[in-house]
Amino acid sequence: MSRLIVVSNRVSAPKDPAAGSAGGLAMALSAALRKYDGLWFGWSGETVEQFTGELNIEDRAGVTVATVDLEPQDVDEYYNGYANKTLWPLFHHRVDLTAYERSYGEGYERTNRRFAEVLQPLIQPDDIIWIHDYHMIPMARDLRRLGVKNRIGFFLHTPWPARQLLVTLPHHRRLVESMFYFDLIGFHTHEWLGLFERYVEVEARGRVSPDHVIEAFGRRVQCGVFPIGIDVDGFLAARDSVLGGKTYDRMAASAAFRSMIVGVDRLDYSKGLEQRMLGFEQFLEDNPAMRGEVFLLQVTPISRDDVDTYQDIRGRLDALAGRINGAYADMDWQPIRYLNRTFRRDQLAGLYRAAKVGLVTPLRDGMNLVAKEYVAAQNPEDPGVLILSRFAGAAEQMGEALLVNPLSREELSEAIKTALTMPLEERIRKWKALMQVVRDTDVGIWRDSYVGALKKVAIRADDEVVA
Ligand code: G6P
Repeated sequence: MSRLIVVSNRVSAPKDPAAGSAGGLAMALSAALRKYDGLWFGWSGETVEQFTGELNIEDRAGVTVATVDLEPQDVDEYYNGYANKTLWPLFHHRVDLTAYERSYGEGYERTNRRFAEVLQPLIQPDDIIWIHDYHMIPMARDLRRLGVKNRIGFFLHTPWPARQLLVTLPHHRRLVESMFYFDLIGFHTHEWLGLFERYVEVEARGRVSPDHVIEAFGRRVQCGVFPIGIDVDGFLAARDSVLGGKTYDRMAASAAFRSMIVGVDRLDYSKGLEQRMLGFEQFLEDNPAMRGEVFLLQVTPISRDDVDTYQDIRGRLDALAGRINGAYADMDWQPIRYLNRTFRRDQLAGLYRAAKVGLVTPLRDGMNLVAKEYVAAQNPEDPGVLILSRFAGAAEQMGEALLVNPLSREELSEAIKTALTMPLEERIRKWKALMQVVRDTDVGIWRDSYVGALKKVAIRADDEVVA
């Protein structure tokens, strides 16, 4: 049986799966790998003065994890630089926040080469390699240069940007061309795949077949849509665990007669947190009678704190939460509980279950698994309501949620009111439809359908020579 080698920048298989905190990709990969014979390779998250390529190998909850330390310069140029200051904002339609410096691009390519050189000796002839996310786009080309002939798949967890935005990136063609050394490219939604195909048609004069085989740059790659989901049974077990139950009871007692609205997001400008708080403020303005009866619990762990745009948004959110609380709070009520910390997975499940409304309103998001976790955590007899940004990949499947434009505070205000006053039968009807989607896109189904498709792609003969 062939092994599965999963590659991603962030490798964070928790020692105890129930203890994992928010952070969709790593949790999903850890769930996906637990049932496979394989290996998870990536950055250790640590630095070392001089790169040695020495591997740290350990077993974490049944998953073999192999990581490598990077030099501080790699972290600056590859991770903080090209990945998080250039590609992340660009892929999330924030050209205004996109920074490009030549050293970032060079560091990105150097670090990808390093990853490829360290991984190559671990690869056995029958292994299937599955590389994840925008940090590692050029890695297949590097592996091919080292003579690797195995099937190599790529999965993008972020949106793919519109062509008009992507062309603002210097050397955008070089980046896209390197994707043609994969055998299969997966996206979460038809929308992201469509934008990728459009780029290739227009910028590279490529050809797209109806079954998404794309020809360009003298090469050919199979593409497809594979919507990621959560580990449904694992999440339900976390919800029903002792700590999940305790958290539910604690929140139910703390909310008392009030309705809780919950938001859980990394502190990232793509998540629409400012707009969300402003939308909630608008709701308080529009519905004075409901003040004191509802509060927003916003859980927002600090993320990528070395990047200036993340420091800026953090400062703005601190000020905004403080201003709204200062303006509206009463002696026994605070409209926003804003927490910069993580919680265990079982605690989050209990929190979601206690919340009447789940507010998931990113300005742009590859998928968003909080939307699926919120639905899974609900009590089937008395479920809460999901408010979901139409700009999250999840909206392509979760049309039964209350879909909103997160940029409009009036729309947010109205959606919150609708959610809080929705009759029980309607909530149950919507929840059943959404729960079906959550089950249909379980992370195991995502993994098996992607790996199945990768196994079926014919290995191309033209892989050995790479300029
Ligand atoms: C998003 C990205 C992941 C990344 C995660 C956390 O979900 O798609 O690749 O791992 O954010 O970000 P971080 O920079 O902390 O790994």
